[in-house]
Amino acid sequence: MENLRVNLDESDIPTHWYNVVADMPNPPLPPLGPDGNPVSPEQMLQIFPETILAQEMSGERWIAIPEEVRAAYQLWRPSPLCRARRLEQFLGTPAKIFYKYEGVSPTGSHKPNSAVPQAYLNKIAGIHRLTTETGAGQWGSSLAFAGQMFGIAVRIYMVKISYQQKPYRRSMMQTWGAEVFASPTNMTEAGRGILAAHPDSQGSLGIAISEAVEEAASRADTKYALGSVLNHVLLHQTVIGQEAKKQMDKIGEYPDMIFAPFGGGCNFAGIAFPFFADNAAGGRKGKTVRLVAVEPTSCPTLTRGEYTYDYGDASGYTPLMKMYTLGHDFMPPGIHAGGLRYHGASPLVSQLLHEGLIEAVAVPQRATFEAGVQFARTEGIIPAPESNHAIRACIDEALRCKASGEAKTLLFNLSGHGYFDMSAYDRYFAGELEDFDYPREAVAASLARLPKVGAA
Ligand SMILES: Cc1ncc(COP(=O)(O)O)c(C=O)c1O
Repeated sequence: MENLRVNLDESDIPTHWYNVVADMPNPPLPPLGPDGNPVSPEQMLQIFPETILAQEMSGERWIAIPEEVRAAYQLWRPSPLCRARRLEQFLGTPAKIFYKYEGVSPTGSHKPNSAVPQAYLNKIAGIHRLTTETGAGQWGSSLAFAGQMFGIAVRIYMVKISYQQKPYRRSMMQTWGAEVFASPTNMTEAGRGILAAHPDSQGSLGIAISEAVEEAASRADTKYALGSVLNHVLLHQTVIGQEAKKQMDKIGEYPDMIFAPFGGGCNFAGIAFPFFADNAAGGRKGKTVRLVAVEPTSCPTLTRGEYTYDYGDASGYTPLMKMYTLGHDFMPPGIHAGGLRYHGASPLVSQLLHEGLIEAVAVPQRATFEAGVQFARTEGIIPAPESNHAIRACIDEALRCKASGEAKTLLFNLSGHGYFDMSAYDRYFAGELEDFDYPREAVAASLARLPKVGAA
């Protein structure tokens, strides 16, 4: 019998996180204040503890994972690497398709890989309360779960459209003891401002971040936790790619291409960066692996955005970051991959893309669900709508291999399961899902409001 699943032992859980900064050809550009000067650590300490900030600013290649965090990772790590044999057969492709399955975590996605260390690093810094945002509900549930692990109270601003689309995600967060509010709320200045201008606002990740940051900045007992985008979050996720490399080594394989869905960049970085390290060292087994971030055509940050300094939130509370952006007040259409509705992108991923070291593609909503259903019907797991983006791009490549006869080795990150997203699948089967066109005018209007760095 052929092995389809490559498992590792719990002792194989990585001992260090990999910091891509050490291997980037150019140092990352610093976050700036509105005056155009780099933000000081003191400013950042208003919302993050020094334990997190040290990781955010580190240039060290390897950062030790605390034993308490590895012990919590043991609840679900190492995650399996699987060969999608039945999908290959269904497609009739000579390509080999592998996926790393992050849906085995308690909350059903990759997000606890960073929620757990963030809760732990806040705890050892003496913090007992955190605020955060959530789009799809995956990050919120993960921080709620991680808060329970380390005795930290968690308040979550959940994007209103997801709050309505995914009531059971809210119940999960409450089960793990968190407070959850539909954002925009009338509890913060940012939320009240949005509601005054747009009473029917469906919310966005940018708005929810503003609310969570505002609250953390105004309360001495509270810090803020972010589920993606920032360097330390990407760092934590590199356990995914390190395990995947070990698993592929075990069966004598190495990928030609890696695909991951792209929202803020953390699951892409998680699987891709440890392989980027090989590319930076000149390749492995004679190969340079192509690293592909897959985003929705309705929120095409990497493929249509501008590479410039912009705020990470809607109200301009965060520092300015050099990144691909659609403009901080761009309101993405209400697609079902809620975790991909973000105007900006990780500065590290943005810089690597700008320098041509990684790639990005955009795919439309209905085609992603078609791919997710094909995957469910062949491999069994029903994927999260976000993960369907990677599956779409991977299937497209496998079909190109079918046409050319090439037997490439393809790997994608199955970043989460979709068992709380069945209403989205219902709408797909009912023919109610739309392919939103790239909202060119909305993006242009939003880009026209980009901050003028140094003008303040
Ligand atoms: C299942 C899943 N995959 C992917 C993403 C995309 O986020 P990121 O790019 O930060 O990994 C999300 C975000 O919520 C998610 O929930």
